[in-house]
Amino acid sequence: MISLAGRRLLVTGGSRGIGRATALLAAQAGADVGVLYHTRRAEADTVARAIRAMGRRAFLGGGDLADADRVAQLMSEVRAAFGGLDGLVVNHGIWPATETSLARMAPERWRRTMAADLDSVFLVTRAALGLMDTGGRVVMVASTAAQRGEAFHADYAAAKGAMVALVKSLAVECAPGITVNAVAPGWVATEMTTTALAGDAGERAAAGIPLGRVASAEDVAGPILFLLSDLARHVTGEILNVNGGSVLCG
Ligand SMILES: NC(=O)c1ccc[n+]([C@@H]2O[C@H](COP(=O)([O-])OP(=O)(O)OC[C@H]3O[C@@H](n4cnc5c(N)ncnc54)[C@H](OP(=O)(O)O)[C@@H]3O)[C@@H](O)[C@H]2O)c1
Repeated sequence: MISLAGRRLLVTGGSRGIGRATALLAAQAGADVGVLYHTRRAEADTVARAIRAMGRRAFLGGGDLADADRVAQLMSEVRAAFGGLDGLVVNHGIWPATETSLARMAPERWRRTMAADLDSVFLVTRAALGLMDTGGRVVMVASTAAQRGEAFHADYAAAKGAMVALVKSLAVECAPGITVNAVAPGWVATEMTTTALAGDAGERAAAGIPLGRVASAEDVAGPILFLLSDLARHVTGEILNVNGGSVLCG
């Protein structure tokens, strides 16, 4: 039912976790997929090979998306490879695992999080919109942290909160041609949360989720695919909860 046949998609943070699952599911649904990574080229290459094995085109590009020159270079490579874009999944990001009150937060941590989780979002979205025409889709990966805050991770929550405000701004700015939406996951079992969910912590996290378990990357990829698809053609500015019922917002 969901088909992305013939759509050219760019997935940031496609080397692992939610981005990897999204890139693979999108290729299964018929999309050609550009897989972006930061430093883990080997993992991203595995994803690109799997996409090609499904008979789709794959583009592979690496580097820090907070680096404006690198983003400009990547986008010209995407244009050369695909000729343009029909969809962008802004998924890359970091979650500094160390709990720190804002009163004790080093400016370096704040700046690093803002660069990785917000400046990069501005840069890659701005550049990708320049490659998109009517019918384009942007889906961002926000977080429950944007909706309810996250004590001792205020840097991350502030960046994701800004992402949600960006989605709502762009939804109107890019209408009627392009839709802009987000998913807001709660806990997802990826490398990002390996330490935080180790041992009993994983069970405690699951106990706080009405659906009774921490999400898999594939649990998040499905709703992203819906927002990318024609089935969601009249949905824009939406922040779609993908949290097993843990935060009922919206
Ligand atoms: N896991 C969760 O519980 C959870 C919950 C809510 C929201 N999210 C959000 O979901 C998204 C994906 O998370 P995940 O759990 O799949 O994370 P992950 O497994 O840690 O993967 C992070 C991805 O982002 C890329 N990346 C990081 N910094 C980058 C930079 N400066 N420039 C370009 N790429 C960069 C990484 O590339 P390399 O592989 O090359 O390092 C990797 O592909 C993030 O935005 C995260 O905030 C996650």
